[in-house]
Order: sequence, then C-alpha cells, then structure tokens
Amino acid sequence: MSTPQTSTPRAQPQTYSVKSFGCQMNVYDGERMAELLGAQGMRAAAEGEAADLVVLNTCHIREKAAEKVYSDIGRIVKNANEASLPKPLIAVAGCVAQAEGAEIPNRAKAVDIVVGPQAYHNLPQLVADAAAGKNALDTDMPAASKFGALPARRKVGPTAFLTVQEGCDKFCTYCVVPYTRGAEVSRPWGDVVDEAKALIDAGAREITLLGQNVNAWEGEDEKGAVQGLDGLIRALDRLPGLERIRYTTSHPNDMTQALIDAHADVEKLMPFLHLPVQAGSDRILKAMNRSHTTESYLRIIERVRAARPDIALSGDFIVGFPGETEEDFAATLALVSQVNHAQAFSFKYSPRPGTPAATMADQIAADVMDERLQRLQALLNRQQHAFNAATVGRRTRVLIERAGKLPGQMLGKSPWLQSVHLQTEAKIGDMVDVEIVAAGPNSISGLALA
Ligand code: SAH
Ligand code: SF4
Ligand code: F3S
Repeated sequence: MSTPQTSTPRAQPQTYSVKSFGCQMNVYDGERMAELLGAQGMRAAAEGEAADLVVLNTCHIREKAAEKVYSDIGRIVKNANEASLPKPLIAVAGCVAQAEGAEIPNRAKAVDIVVGPQAYHNLPQLVADAAAGKNALDTDMPAASKFGALPARRKVGPTAFLTVQEGCDKFCTYCVVPYTRGAEVSRPWGDVVDEAKALIDAGAREITLLGQNVNAWEGEDEKGAVQGLDGLIRALDRLPGLERIRYTTSHPNDMTQALIDAHADVEKLMPFLHLPVQAGSDRILKAMNRSHTTESYLRIIERVRAARPDIALSGDFIVGFPGETEEDFAATLALVSQVNHAQAFSFKYSPRPGTPAATMADQIAADVMDERLQRLQALLNRQQHAFNAATVGRRTRVLIERAGKLPGQMLGKSPWLQSVHLQTEAKIGDMVDVEIVAAGPNSISGLALA
C-alpha cells in the first residue's frame, strides 16, 4: 500500500452511497460493497441525502467510461461546497482503480480511497484508515479470493447476479479486462451453490451467473467430478424456489456442446444467449486476437439454434478497429444480417493505454467510426424490432420486476429478455402468464391471462 495523500482525521462515516458504472460484474461488486458497508453498521444514504462516503465503482473498458469518474468527483465536491457540507469521503473502486491506482489521487485530490476489484473486501479497513487520515490504497490481487471475506447476502429483488468466474486469459488486443481483473479464476462449486441458495432465500426468482468468460467456468462437484458451466446450471435447476437461470458473458471458444445441450433440456435455463463476435471480417478478428473465425462462430450459432430454435441471440460489436476497411465493415454488416439478433451492443473502438491495439497503425478516424456505428446500429435496431414483432401472439410467462409509470402497470421480462409492460395485480417477483399483444423497438406489451 502507498499513500495517495494524508489528511486530517475525521469522524467515521455513517452513511454511504455506491454508484456502479460498468458491466454486470461491476454491478455485482457494487452490491457486495454495499452489503459490506451495511455489515459495518453504516446505512445507505436516502435519495437526495448527501452520503458521508461515496463509492464510485468504475469501468475502464472505453475512454468515455473511464473519464466519467473524474467529472463525477468534480460534481460531488461542487455539490458539497454549494450545500456548505464537508466533502464526503470519496472511494474510487472498480477497474479504473485497478488500472490507474495511485495516479487517481494525484489527478483528483478529493479522492481518499482507491480499491481494486479483487481487494474490495478490505474496504471497511480502508475507510477506517482514510477517516483516520492514513494510507488508503489497495489494488492487490491476492491469491485468496475476496469472496470468503464478504458478509452473507441480504435481501435482493426477484432478479439477482451471481459472479462465478472472474478475470480473463484471452487478451483480445483492444481489451483492458485481463489487466484490470487479472487471470481467469472459477469460484468453487460449493461456494456458488451456497450463494445461489442464499439468494433464493433472500428473494431471488431468477439468477444470472456472471463471468468475463462465464462459459469457461470449471469446478469439481460434491462428488469430485469435474464440471463445466452446464453442470453448474443443472445443479441450480434442481434448487427449489428458483424459476429462471441466465448466464453472461460467453466467449465463442468456450461454447461447449454440453452447454448448448443444456439449452435443449434444462427448463429453467432461459432461451437467451449473449455471445459476442465483435466483427465479421476474419482479418480483423485475427488482429483482435479473438481466436475464432466468422465461420466457427456461425457453426456455433447453428448448433445453438438446433438445440433451442427460439433462442434470442445477443452480441457485442466493435466498429473502427485499427485497419478496418469499408470492406471489413461490410463483412460485419453481412454477418449481422445472416445471424439475426434479438438485441446487441455496439461500440466505437476506443484505444486503451497498454493494450496492443492502441499502438497499431491505421487508427480509424472518428467520423468514419461514427458513420459505421450508425449504419450498424440501424441494422441491429431493425432486427430487434423484428424479433419483438415476431413474438406477438405468443403465450409465455413474465417475471414481474417493478411497477410501471401508469396506474396498475407492471414491468417484467420475457424468457427472451424482452422488457414487457402489462396491466396486472401481480406483485414484484410473481410469474404471470401473458399473451404478447404488441411490440415496439425496445419493449413489448403483454395481456395477463386469467
Ligand atoms: N468478455 C466479454 C466482454 C467484455 S467487455 C467478451 O469477450 O466478449 C464488453 C464489450 O466491450 C466487449 O465485448 C467489446 O465489444 C467492448 N470493448 C472492449 N474493449 C473495447 C475497446 N477498447 N473499445 C471499444 N469497445 C470495447
Ligand atoms: Fe476482453 Fe477478450 Fe477477455 Fe472478453 S475475451 S474480456 S473482450 S480480452
Ligand atoms: Fe468495465 Fe471492468 Fe466490467 S473494465 S466492463 S467494469 S470488467
């Protein structure tokens, strides 16, 4: 540990807020940090109340995400000044903390604590140290996992995240995750099953298993047999009280036939697969070090659709990777047209410090990237709308997640992860039989069946 800065001692904080900026795993970490602070006797600041401790749980994946933390810090300081309140303790957690470490308090003096994604179980100590005016930086990646040092799960909503795998060994040339999250590690079988049971007891009806490469998960079951993610999913399928299982994010290279088969016969496993391909040109995929080709990806999609014909496919795309020609980009559009997505995320390539792609020749001009992103998103949006429209008339079940804006309206998710609006007396956490009656680009409407 080193000193970001020393300051005058202050009272231990009583209230906290945690704001997560990143992927689902980052959101999961945010929930665990909140639980940890709660277990210390702190309470979450109410809406609009100024917290004594603000945790900014950051994301480093693209420049825009990484820079956001600095504007947020500025705003927090300004708000405190304007309200004549003392500046809260500010903790920067997450992947920016890991990537930038001690540079953060050098750049933003208001920051008191820096804590990486593998070290946040030490947050209570860091908070105590910072309040005492002492060192408060921890970006270690200890061999012993943080999970064992976290408190029990507390009450959750009907849908819950459960991290089962962390880190990445794939080293795609554009990506910071192998550096910010470290090497690929699977949490042990027993720990995952126990946490799943705790989440169900705490109110979860749906669990999404998380990992940067979740389908690379591997572990030994209680009999000592080696299991993959499919085995873990089958074990969760047997847990009473759980209605739905999802997982994300998967890498094409770890998409085993056993996992594909689970989509055919595990009833609770939802018909949805997020399987990023990133680009449709093999030349670009090679430069990205993706280790799959468009052909191998298409073969996987074929097998997945054979196992589960109604599966909703999702993915991630990067446009404007260094060297991407108009022809390469056209190949991405062609692949998207061939696959047909229910939804997808697409991004302009963002050069990240320390990654191989950042220093490659032929970086693409911003206006070219903008134009390509617009064309890709127009196509993906049309596909999403068409997917939604094709579900009209189907009878299915919706898990109610929250109240809608209109009186009597509730919002939930279909098995295909579509947002569903419906009028119903059902409560949050209920499963409701519906007929899908209308479709928009981003959501569908359901009619509750008696
Ligand atoms: N492990 C997952 C995704 C991790 S990051 C996978 O391998 O697919 C989520 C998404 O962010 C990636 O799929 C990619 O599309 C995007 N991304 C990652 N690095 C990026 C960069 N430097 N610029 C733009 N998008 C990036
Ligand atoms: Fe990043 Fe590639 Fe690993 Fe995904 S597989 S986290 S894109 S390095
Ligand atoms: Fe961002 Fe870290 Fe997730 S960089 S995408 S928060 S793993």
